Amino acid sequence: MSSGSLIAQLDAFEQAALAAIRGAADAAALEAARIEFLGARQGKLRDLQALLGTATREEKPVVGRRFNEVKQVVSNELDARGRVLSRPRRPDQAVDVTLPGPRPAIGRRHPLTQTILEFKDIMGRFGFTVADGPEVEDEWHNFEALNIPADHPARDPLDNFFLATAAAGDPQRGTANSATSRLLRSQTSTVQIRVMESNPPPIRICSVGRVYRPDTIDATHSCMFHQMEGLLIAPGTTMAQLKTVLRLFAQAYLGHDVTIRFRPSFFPFTEPSVEVDMSWDSTGSRWLEIGGAGMVDPNVLRAVGYDPEQVTGFAFGLGIERFCMRRHQVPDIRYFTNNDLRFLRQF
Ligand code: PHE
Repeated sequence: MSSGSLIAQLDAFEQAALAAIRGAADAAALEAARIEFLGARQGKLRDLQALLGTATREEKPVVGRRFNEVKQVVSNELDARGRVLSRPRRPDQAVDVTLPGPRPAIGRRHPLTQTILEFKDIMGRFGFTVADGPEVEDEWHNFEALNIPADHPARDPLDNFFLATAAAGDPQRGTANSATSRLLRSQTSTVQIRVMESNPPPIRICSVGRVYRPDTIDATHSCMFHQMEGLLIAPGTTMAQLKTVLRLFAQAYLGHDVTIRFRPSFFPFTEPSVEVDMSWDSTGSRWLEIGGAGMVDPNVLRAVGYDPEQVTGFAFGLGIERFCMRRHQVPDIRYFTNNDLRFLRQF
């Protein structure tokens, strides 16, 4: 046998032995490795020793030196691993929670979630219960029942996210088949219809959720944002009550220095209608639109089977992001969806 192949066998032995020793998880595994590699009767090193005799006279010093070296390295490693494994273990990772120490980082709610919870809380104090509705809607609840007829520009497929479902009449045209076309709701006013359809008056609900519009995204617009809808149906409801609720709501969330202003406007589902602005700061020089509101249109009441001669009501829809932006002076709506922890950790 040539010394080259003997040296190679010694190298291979060394590698295998070190790997087994380092991988031994407990004393029993370590002892098994010792017997396998260094065992006096059947250990692998013993087999190699038997081969040493086949080396030539000139080879013997080289091979012999390497043999002793490997034997030393492996038994050193065996001893070292033995010392590590015999160290006393920590008592089962026990943590004494009464002792001081580093606190684990706990997460926090997203600022919009915090806002939504607070909105529901305020509305609850005003006597409004919380209702819910789906984000994927049909055209009846998003348009038709809200007095938005098929030829109304608000139903333009370019202004809505129609879904190309197999059942849809023609998603390209969107309005081709009201019974089956589906879209991502463009407003939470859909929930007004759903609540009135399944409940008799009186009604006092709010509903919070996501709405979707193919708007150009900028500092104050996003293609997905959150709205809070409010609906109150009762005999003798007035516009003055609506304005009071909105003012009290804004002040409950933003404090008494916020100013609310109402501009005459138009929505198919309210008459009269207003758009609502709030002051961006105490200088009163900048206004931000926060939503729409008005007295529920008789056509809407009829669509859900109410008698407009018997009941009246008001409704409003507010953009949630903008309230949160004003309270914390967040200059850009995109902060809420950028997932930048430096921003999120401040709330
Ligand atoms: N749904 C309207 C919008 O999204 C807001 C609104 C709600 C207006 C309720 C009047 C009444 O713009």
